[in-house]
Amino acid sequence: AKKGRVFSGARPTGRQHLGNYLGAMLNYVALQEDYDCIYCIVDVHALTTLETTLDLRQNTYEMALDWLAVGIRPEESIVFVQSHVPQVMELHTYLSMVTPLGKLTDLPTFKEKAREQPHNVNYGLVGYPVLMTADIVLYKADLVPVGVDQAPHLEFARETVRSFNHRYNTQVLIEPQMKVTQVPKVIGIDGQQKMSKSLNNHIELAATPEETRQRVMQMVTDPQRIRRSDPGNPDVCNVFSMHKIFSSPEQVEMVNTECRRAGIGCVDCKKLFAENLNHHLQPFRQRREEISQNPDFVWDVLKDGAKRASQIAEATMVEVRQAIGL
Ligand code: ADP
Ligand code: NA
Repeated sequence: AKKGRVFSGARPTGRQHLGNYLGAMLNYVALQEDYDCIYCIVDVHALTTLETTLDLRQNTYEMALDWLAVGIRPEESIVFVQSHVPQVMELHTYLSMVTPLGKLTDLPTFKEKAREQPHNVNYGLVGYPVLMTADIVLYKADLVPVGVDQAPHLEFARETVRSFNHRYNTQVLIEPQMKVTQVPKVIGIDGQQKMSKSLNNHIELAATPEETRQRVMQMVTDPQRIRRSDPGNPDVCNVFSMHKIFSSPEQVEMVNTECRRAGIGCVDCKKLFAENLNHHLQPFRQRREEISQNPDFVWDVLKDGAKRASQIAEATMVEVRQAIGL
């Protein structure tokens, strides 16, 4: 028997990168051992920002393909697209009625987004955490794997559940718990910012070995190390951080020592990392290639996932409508 139900959603950002892989996907795979997992491609959330509204279908497909290739097992876990189960929009509306507007506009993520896209501070953007709450509680998830940056959203979800249950004197909605997992914050090839597709500082999982090598060669290393003969400082080098994840302990030790005494140059150090990364991703890439021979398979998985998700969703909504008195 499993320990409970996990829900996690991610916007359809297309082909996944190393940040997604180390920060989310590996955890998704691991959680399947102990939990009933629901993994949702939240396409409606993607509409809250302008740039992600393009290629929604293609991005959904590519992301689902990566998820399947990495080892999310659709026979066990429910993998589906948010908009395929429209009950979430209905629940979102009901939850919005117990949500003070000020609480939403006070959230740090809202303030940040509003600064980023002042021309598009739409109603949906403000309500993003309400929709996120609806996602979680519609499926009666016990646990939500989140990074620390999402903690305020989960606390918001818990408060919203309490408000709803209190207002309608019911217990139908479950307060989700946060499952904090220590995941690395992966820095992009610029060596500075969080790896992200929108910053174009990412390394795609599905890239070819040659593309991967080229990307790795662009990685910014210790900025103080200018000439090959300068000793480097691995502690401030993102390539070294990657070695620690993808290289053998002996290689990490070698890089650590040799970099500090200029025994190894950045080019050779990067070549070694690229080689190890390509080796590590080889089974993933092969599996991805196999699945992509039959794109219908991916869409069938999502369709079947939506069917299973709908059953849970509709059962919850029957209770919710009854509790409200609709
Ligand atoms: P979303 O907005 O749906 O979270 P993202 O593409 O920003 O979409 O992220 C998807 C998942 O990958 C999230 O769990 C996020 O924390 C993780 N992730 C993305 N980029 C990184 C990164 N550079 N380092 C660690 N984790 C990351
Ligand atoms: Na994110």
